[in-house]
Amino acid sequence: MQPSAIPFDEATPDARSGAEIAASIVIPTYNEAKNVPVLVERLREVMGQRSYEIIVVDDDSPDLTWSVANRLGEEDPRVRCHRRIDRKGLGSAIVDGLSLGRGERLVVMDADLQHDPAAIPRLLDALDDADLALGTRYGEGGSTGEWGIVRELMSRGATIFCRVLLGITATDPMSGLFAIRRDLFHELAPRLNPRGFKILMEVLYHTRNRARVAEVDYTFGLRHAGESKLDKAVILDFVLSAFELRSGGLVSRRFLKYCAVGLLGVAVQTIGVYLLNGPLTPPVALATAIAAAMLHNYLLNNIWTFRDRRHREATALLSGLVRFVFVSGFGALINHSVTTNLFQLTGVPMHLTSLAGIAMATAWNFLLNSRITWDFGRKDE
Ligand code: GDD
Ligand code: MN
Repeated sequence: MQPSAIPFDEATPDARSGAEIAASIVIPTYNEAKNVPVLVERLREVMGQRSYEIIVVDDDSPDLTWSVANRLGEEDPRVRCHRRIDRKGLGSAIVDGLSLGRGERLVVMDADLQHDPAAIPRLLDALDDADLALGTRYGEGGSTGEWGIVRELMSRGATIFCRVLLGITATDPMSGLFAIRRDLFHELAPRLNPRGFKILMEVLYHTRNRARVAEVDYTFGLRHAGESKLDKAVILDFVLSAFELRSGGLVSRRFLKYCAVGLLGVAVQTIGVYLLNGPLTPPVALATAIAAAMLHNYLLNNIWTFRDRRHREATALLSGLVRFVFVSGFGALINHSVTTNLFQLTGVPMHLTSLAGIAMATAWNFLLNSRITWDFGRKDE
């Protein structure tokens, strides 16, 4: 068969028009219907004659942000919206939006006008001689605006933490405002964890020592309308993500959460034994405290560690609990046999071999619980 006479670059209109767009502005949204029109208008003003497109990535917001964005797209074809069914989260919205970007340069910004639209042209220009440009609240002309002391401290703490653990020297690695060259993004994309929400932190980590990073100061404004979707849990999530990154993905965030729950469970059992010993006979006190710790661990894992797969209805909860107890029982056997066998084989004191027992049992329990307790019936939930 005759190969097509159309040269490759003309046969791929997307690629061609992509060459004409200088910048893609990615805006993740969840319930931002009131903010998107204002932001789009402000961007139109500040972008002037520059060629750009706006990609709104909406997680099927109940306030119909996606529909508002689609309507804006009818008036201005530079605006389009990717509506995703199921809330998949901020990190994956950013990654999806960036992968759709046709511009040479890509920018990510929040929809609520806390990120000053006037900083966008400056970020884009900064890519003239940088691979990555980030908006920083901590530079000379930057400011966190009117933040409460707690939020300020948490954010500063996280920045320092990032530097110590990951060797990231940027002043504001938590920023949700940054620009990146499209080529660099596509090179990094397979390594980004869309379940995380600190995409910038990941990008900085994977490109440390080689990317040229520029910083652009701006003042973090007040939210225009609606409310923040990121709560305090997000900070903890951030800390766990940093550990996950540092371990090269070996230690997952989920596993770290699971371990944290386990440690809390130890506290529950200890306090339980302390309080119940006396009112109850020692064996009954111990059994009750163990039961309480198990129930605690199951429930906390259900709403936190395995939140995305959580059991909601009474029957699902009950059968989940049964599986959890079953797995834990198995783990206890492993714990016991590793501890005693190691002790007999090596002569290392038992309180030390029991640490190995705990480690083995925890890893094993985690695997089984991920597979059995929180996997079965996942489809019908
Ligand atoms: N698609 C999608 N899905 N978008 C989301 C989701 C989600 O699940 N959750 C939040 N967003 C969007 C919001 O609609 C908003 O446009 C943007 O992500 C930031 O969310 P906010 O709720 O406004 O976050 P914030 O103001 O508390 O936090 C901001 O400042 C932090 C600095 O401390 C964000 O920019 C963070 O990334 C930043 O670290
Ligand atoms: Mn915000």
